[in-house]
Order: sequence, then structure tokens, then C-alpha cells
Amino acid sequence: VTATITLRLLETNDLDRYRRLRLEAVRAEPTAFGSSYETEIAARADKYRDRLTGSAENYVLGAFTDDQLAGMVGFVRETAPRRAHVASVWGLYVAPRWRGGGIGRTLLAGVIERARALPGLEHVLITVVSNNPAARKLYESLGFTVWGIEPAALKVDGVDYDDIHLLLHLHPPAR
Ligand SMILES: CC(C)(COP(=O)(O)OP(=O)(O)OC[C@H]1O[C@@H](n2cnc3c(N)ncnc32)[C@H](O)[C@@H]1OP(=O)(O)O)[C@@H](O)C(=O)NCCC(=O)NCCS
Repeated sequence: VTATITLRLLETNDLDRYRRLRLEAVRAEPTAFGSSYETEIAARADKYRDRLTGSAENYVLGAFTDDQLAGMVGFVRETAPRRAHVASVWGLYVAPRWRGGGIGRTLLAGVIERARALPGLEHVLITVVSNNPAARKLYESLGFTVWGIEPAALKVDGVDYDDIHLLLHLHPPAR
């Protein structure tokens, strides 16, 4: 499916559709995320509202096709002074009917472009569960490299999954 994709930071107004898509994500992909449906459905509205402040350092970026929220990805920069050069990307999700059309890649590229514009930010972390080669391939194709693996990082219905940790240098030295 090809459609025009518009990216924009989600705001408080988007709370309902954001929550709907987030709950769909954690329910449909129980092993793809650190969080679970049970955790997210129980979360207070404030937790969701706090993610949608539209701040350049802590946001959820939405991908819209025809006014529909088709996909999203979270970004958060660390706040402690000694950690402020580091940010993390989390919760990448594209609704099933829109997959394979470049939305996931566009969302991540959008996050990377915005990250490069933040003074003092040096690298971005992302974690992918070992049973998700499609997502890992996407991250590596955008320049992320694996720096470590946490064995049995997640236990879902009694089954262990490893976390693969990747990092992207935003300003690699020219060679
Ligand atoms: C992973 C995900 C976000 C990709 O979104 P998408 O919009 O389908 O991805 P794109 O169309 O932009 O594809 C980007 C790249 O991902 C990889 N990819 C996507 N789907 C794939 C598949 N079914 N098999 C293998 N690789 C795949 C390819 O490398 C692709 O690059 P290419 O187009 O040059 O071949 C989406 O499949 C998804 O939401 N999955 C469930 C949730 C999830 O796993 N999130 C990631 C958690 S870390």
C-alpha cells in the first residue's frame, strides 16, 4: 500500500488515538516491547499525557496517512548531566495494514534527523528482541550497530527472549 505519509509530533489532542494504537501494539506484539498489554491498560492517563508533550527531547512521533495514525515511535533524551549525550528510541510500531510501505523507515529517519539537530546529543540507543530480525535489519540499515546482548532479558509466558542493544553515532568522524 502506498500513501502519502506525514510525520508530526503527537500532542495531548492525540491522546485517544495514541493510546488506542499503543494498546494495539502491545497486545498484537507481546514479545516486541518491554512493556505489556496488562501494564499499559492499567497505566494512568497522566503517563500517556507525559509522553505527548511535544518536547524536542521527549516525544512520540506519529506517521499519518489520510489523517489516520498508521505508525509511531518514541524518543527520549536522558536528563542527568552525565547522561545528556544519550537518547533512546522506543516503541516503534506500524499498524499491520501499513507495513512494508516504508513507514517504519520514514519514522526512524525522522527521529534520527531530529536527534542530529539537538546540541550535545551524541548517540541514540535502541533495543530489539532477538526474535525480530525484520526490525534489527531496519535499524542496521540506518547505521545502528550492535554493542551487546542481554540474555533472557524478557520472560513472556515462561519463555525467555534476549535483548539486542544497538547504538547509532549521530556525528561520526569523517573518514
Ligand atoms: C518493524 C516495523 C516497525 C517495520 O515497519 P514497516 O513500515 O513495515 O517497515 P518498512 O516498510 O519501512 O521497512 C523497513 C525495513 O524493515 C525491514 N523489514 C520490514 N518488514 C520486513 C519483513 N517482513 N521481513 C524482513 N525485513 C523486513 C526491511 O529491512 C525493510 O527495508 P527495505 O524496505 O529496504 O527492505 C513493523 O513491522 C512493526 O510494527 N512490527 C511490529 C512491532 C515491532 O516489531 N516493532 C519493533 C520493536 S523493536
